[in-house]
Amino acid sequence: MATSRLHIACALLLAGVVLLGQNQEGMEAVACPQYCLEVDYITCPSSGSQKLPARCNCCMAPKGCTLHLSDGINQTCS
Ligand SMILES: *[C@@H]1O[C@H](CO)[C@@H](O)[C@H](O)[C@H]1NC(C)=O
Repeated sequence: MATSRLHIACALLLAGVVLLGQNQEGMEAVACPQYCLEVDYITCPSSGSQKLPARCNCCMAPKGCTLHLSDGINQTCS
């Protein structure tokens, strides 16, 4: 009796974890890695050559934009 209840509890827990995981996948745009590159500014295809305020990393920048790092490296976000 006690063990079957435990199994049900485990199954519920697993289902919860799966649901939680799916939820986080859907919120990908919000859950960005929390690190910052040395970004001077970014440029985006939609804004032409206009310099936009720096974003910490590609995850936080809109898709297709380029991060211009302070050491001269350009990182294009896909
Ligand atoms: C990065 O982009 C800027 C502006 O378009 C350009 O002047 C610079 O040469 C590029 N640097 C590299 C390493 O490609």
